[in-house]
Amino acid sequence: MKLYVILGFLILVELVSSLGLLGGDATSREGQPLMGGYSEQNLDLLTSEKKNYYINAANKAIEMMNDVTNGKPLIFQKLVSVRTQVIAGVNYDITMKVLIDDKSQICHVLVTNMLNNAIPGGTWSVVAQSSNDPCAPYTSAPEQVHIMKRSAHLLGGEGQASSEDMGVQKAARWALEHINSMSNSLFRQVLVRVSNVKKQVVNGYRYRFQLTTAPTDCLNEPENKDKGLEECPVSNTGKIQDCSVSLIYSLEVYKMETFSCKPSSKKPILGGDDHDYKPHGLLGGYDHGKSFNGLLGKDLQDFLPHGQPYFMPRQADQNNPLSSNTEDRITQMRIGGGDDHDYLPHDSGKCTEYREEFIAFKAKHNKVYGSYREEAKRFMVFCENMDKVKEYQRLDQGSAIYGATKFADMTETEFEKQYLGLKVPIGHSSAWPAAEIPQVSFPVSWDWREHKIVTPVKNQGSCGSCWAFSTTGNVEGQWALVNKKLYSLSEQELVDCDKIDEGCNGGLPTQAYEAIMKLGGLETEQDYKYEGHDEKCQFNKSEVVVTLSGAVNISKNETEMAAWLYKNGPISIGINAFAMQFYLGGIAHPWKIFCNPKSLDHGVLIVGYGVEKGEPFWMIKNSWGSDWGREGYYYVYRGDGTCGLNEMCTSAQVKKK
Ligand SMILES: *[C@@H]1O[C@H](CO)[C@@H](O)[C@H](O)[C@H]1NC(C)=O
Ligand SMILES: *[C@@H]1O[C@H](CO)[C@@H](O)[C@H](O)[C@H]1NC(C)=O
Ligand SMILES: *[C@@H]1O[C@H](CO)[C@@H](O)[C@H](O)[C@H]1NC(C)=O
Repeated sequence: MKLYVILGFLILVELVSSLGLLGGDATSREGQPLMGGYSEQNLDLLTSEKKNYYINAANKAIEMMNDVTNGKPLIFQKLVSVRTQVIAGVNYDITMKVLIDDKSQICHVLVTNMLNNAIPGGTWSVVAQSSNDPCAPYTSAPEQVHIMKRSAHLLGGEGQASSEDMGVQKAARWALEHINSMSNSLFRQVLVRVSNVKKQVVNGYRYRFQLTTAPTDCLNEPENKDKGLEECPVSNTGKIQDCSVSLIYSLEVYKMETFSCKPSSKKPILGGDDHDYKPHGLLGGYDHGKSFNGLLGKDLQDFLPHGQPYFMPRQADQNNPLSSNTEDRITQMRIGGGDDHDYLPHDSGKCTEYREEFIAFKAKHNKVYGSYREEAKRFMVFCENMDKVKEYQRLDQGSAIYGATKFADMTETEFEKQYLGLKVPIGHSSAWPAAEIPQVSFPVSWDWREHKIVTPVKNQGSCGSCWAFSTTGNVEGQWALVNKKLYSLSEQELVDCDKIDEGCNGGLPTQAYEAIMKLGGLETEQDYKYEGHDEKCQFNKSEVVVTLSGAVNISKNETEMAAWLYKNGPISIGINAFAMQFYLGGIAHPWKIFCNPKSLDHGVLIVGYGVEKGEPFWMIKNSWGSDWGREGYYYVYRGDGTCGLNEMCTSAQVKKK
């Protein structure tokens, strides 16, 4: 129990410290959070990470209210204000804009996240602050706080349970696979029996039991997953083990709380009749099996060769693997339907709905994972991502389509590390003069790709070198416009030789222009090939094809950006890459609250603009290959500074040769 308390506490501490509430004054000497008053959160000053805590709380509230409504689901639109209070958990006093029956309404609710030792993340409740609040019909009266259906409070203490309980059997089966997957043993363990079962109703069930497992001759490999004794004979070497397991089954998902295995103290007695540790009346008799098999004196009735250790084989009756008086026995268990060839975790709860999609995704993108463990992990990531995709889809104001791109099996953190890399330093080193905005009338749409000054979409690979691609893309366009020759230029030169920037760890186009001038120019892609990792600088000045004379800082006004672009060529920009990991097409238009215009993390290139079904957009060249987005391009709403695309617009300048 102690562990859960500590875990629960750690979760709270983590939450509270990320809320910024745990200061010297807010904790007692023991480090316990103290009761305190509300503190107002200034949404404009928060980092997006902190803001996400409140958005998460608001979304929890919406989710709970949607559990109650019979009509159209309520849709979260915007946080208006948030106050927080540390209790044994956190109270969020939230004012938010909510779409109720297609009407935008302001709701004022109290969302409570109570620390609950039994439930990771605690329990949530929501209550409207007044009875005439538009959200009031979907929350309960203040005195009878609505506890989220899915995270009900602890209902009862721990009780005994039978190993025949179907829930126990499924849990044991899941635990066995989990233990095998965590084991570095070469050989697979199979289940011999389940004992000391305790069951507790929590948010779902907590099961605690002891598993006795036996080593087999099957390798502990994915292809042997779910195999039992008849396919995996018990090995004569290896150790029988006893594993103490505590797990939670909630929302159709199993979560291991703790488990520990040690060699079993019970020694199998060869030749003995005590394989199930129950006294049998008659040696050699058939009293422990249920059916008379006609062979008196033979020990076949339980399908177990005696004279062997005590492992129980699969029972004859598959529908009732544990017949009534075999409480101590458990068969090795397989998952019915033979659906076990894809190595995906079964019983994976809500993820089950994404299995087909994951299989299609793997086929489409030729994904091969090195091990079962890796594949299972990637499936879980995929599943979480697909949930996010639904959310992004729901929240986009434009026509964007989000889905399983080739990056759909990466966590956001992995993705950030490998594919983003715009580093905005605190004290910006390069400053460039403001660009002159041409006083021209420009057409309704313009696409520089049609004018032979844009190279095909490139692929940065797993290197945070987007800034280098944004830079070369711009320089390629400038050179082609001024000197009528389109070169594909070298990003690797920048990754290796630009010492102002940080190679695969990120950089800035504004600094790269400066570095190119210092170096003496850019080589071609062909002469200085892209490797996608940091290497020693191999710059060769005699191979330089393009030199720069300076750079300019372009307006943040999107009308002026379009005028400049039409007259002068593609613009290097920084953008917040929110949801780009899952962009498939359409015109992206995320809300500002999710896509902070001040958090630029990706360098790309605007090559044109237009209007599609009434929506004005920018066409943006990305560097994630042409099999991402719209043939490698990202179309983003034009006109309201979406995702900060107008915050860092620059271009190199070149002289006529
Ligand atoms: C460009 O101009 C803006 C102000 O309009 C300024 O904040 C920014 O630092 C400038 N950037 C460069 C690289 O000169
Ligand atoms: C630099 O490039 C030139 C022209 O391709 C070549 O002749 C020379 O060997 C190169 N130098 C080095 C050090 O690679
Ligand atoms: C943007 O620039 C255009 C053209 O110079 C101007 O008419 C417009 O008022 C500017 N918009 C803002 C918000 O400054």
